[in-house]
Amino acid sequence: MKKILIVYYSRTETTKKVAMQLAEKLGADVEEIKDTVDRKGAKGYLISGRDATLRKLTVLEKSENNPSNYDLVIIGTPIWSWNMSVPVRTYLTDRKDEFPEVAFFCTMGGSGDKRAFAEMGEIIGKQPIATLTLKTVEVVKDLAQEKIDEFVKSIN
Ligand SMILES: Cc1cc2nc3c(=O)[nH]c(=O)nc-3n(C[C@H](O)[C@H](O)[C@H](O)COP(=O)(O)O)c2cc1C
Repeated sequence: MKKILIVYYSRTETTKKVAMQLAEKLGADVEEIKDTVDRKGAKGYLISGRDATLRKLTVLEKSENNPSNYDLVIIGTPIWSWNMSVPVRTYLTDRKDEFPEVAFFCTMGGSGDKRAFAEMGEIIGKQPIATLTLKTVEVVKDLAQEKIDEFVKSIN
């Protein structure tokens, strides 16, 4: 069995919910990417959207797991302004030479996944073996099981 790490950032717990479901199905370790910037509320929304558009980086709290200790790292992000989230961009940039095989997932209101996935692959110089895009509403209403199972199958 592959040793798998799931790393995710989540501002409002949608992406977290998917990460936890994947972890259970895959028997994977999970790590939350924690930002030192407060992104709560309307002000947090505004700075996050602006910083994602500008492809800015942030300062993350120290992470616990080393991606290079795994066979596969699955990276999850919310879509912000048709981009990956700022904390995920930072995580990938900080550790860009440490990744084994990767897979990506995202949650979003409606669009931006393709560009975000392409850029995530560019930053670390690797193409994902699988990707999963879920809309927020699908996750919240538990309508994503089929897509999640398909993703899990393509990884195993
Ligand atoms: C600053 C900001 C910008 C966003 N921009 C987009 C976007 O461009 N496209 C989209 O489909 N959803 C966008 N969303 C919605 C989020 O991607 C969506 O709600 C996601 O599921 C949130 O994940 P989380 O709960 O894990 O933080 C944006 C949300 C935020 C906070």
